[in-house]
Amino acid sequence: MPNYQEILEQAAQRVQPLLREGKVANYIPALAEQPLEQFSVSLHTVDGETYSAGDTEAKFTIQSVSKVMTLTLALQRYGDELWSRVGKEPSGTAFNSLTQLEFENGIPRNPFINAGAIVTCDALYSRLSAPIHTMLESYRAMSGNDKLCINKVVAQSEYDHRYRNAAMAYLMKSFGNFNNEVEDVLWSYFNFCAIEMNTTELAKSFSYLSSQGYCNLSKQRILTKKQTKQMNSLLFTSGLYDAAGDFGYRVGMPGKSGVGGAIIAIVPNRFTISVWSPGLDKVGNSLAGIAALEYLSNELGTAIF
Ligand code: DON
Repeated sequence: MPNYQEILEQAAQRVQPLLREGKVANYIPALAEQPLEQFSVSLHTVDGETYSAGDTEAKFTIQSVSKVMTLTLALQRYGDELWSRVGKEPSGTAFNSLTQLEFENGIPRNPFINAGAIVTCDALYSRLSAPIHTMLESYRAMSGNDKLCINKVVAQSEYDHRYRNAAMAYLMKSFGNFNNEVEDVLWSYFNFCAIEMNTTELAKSFSYLSSQGYCNLSKQRILTKKQTKQMNSLLFTSGLYDAAGDFGYRVGMPGKSGVGGAIIAIVPNRFTISVWSPGLDKVGNSLAGIAALEYLSNELGTAIF
């Protein structure tokens, strides 16, 4: 068995020179304040072992990584019916692009770009009486930490600067692909994005994706085996937006990034990896995070191909 702890520590060492190269997300004012030079990595195996290195206690908001859980909870409730409202194709455009949405009649390309996640939130909102509470409880059960919280300063900051996401939601509403009040759904969406945790909790929360849909921490089936395969396939093609091809080429694992600097990567039947470093590349993905995953992919032989 590889020495996971040693390899994670080597990854944390190797990315140190890269930490200053990225830029923190500044379109969300509350995120712009975090110091650049931070890095953490965790690996949670299907046998329930966890390894971590770097700034392992540091907490961050998971941002777009939350879109994976939103889709998961929506698929639990709708199954394949959900795909009438959101597509499964890579967008090739930025995560917050509006252009395709008009050409494609208010049906977002996939559930991981903002428009797709917001319409998925709308679907979920229709089936839950307290969506923010349900979401938080799901993360608490699956991460094994019943104290996980939402960073309300970040959620409010995003809501106060919601213009672009609001534009997408109203455009979808104009096409008849939105059922609830836009402002209510956006508030839920921003709260989901502002759930705060460290990399250990993040790797555990998404361990079901490497365990064929079963979460060992909550002892619950989260997705069927087939849905888990489908989710990982979608993550591979669209999890990193217009950089999905480059990420696939360098890392070779299904993954999902967030503008807070977090990324999860899945190795089916082996482990879930999470990395975090707030400095982003030009596309909006963690620069050191991707470099660390590339290193781990090579060292651990994790590529699924
Ligand atoms: O809605 C937004 O723009 C953010 N809350 C999430 C975007 C995000 O994380 C994109 N990821 N790289």
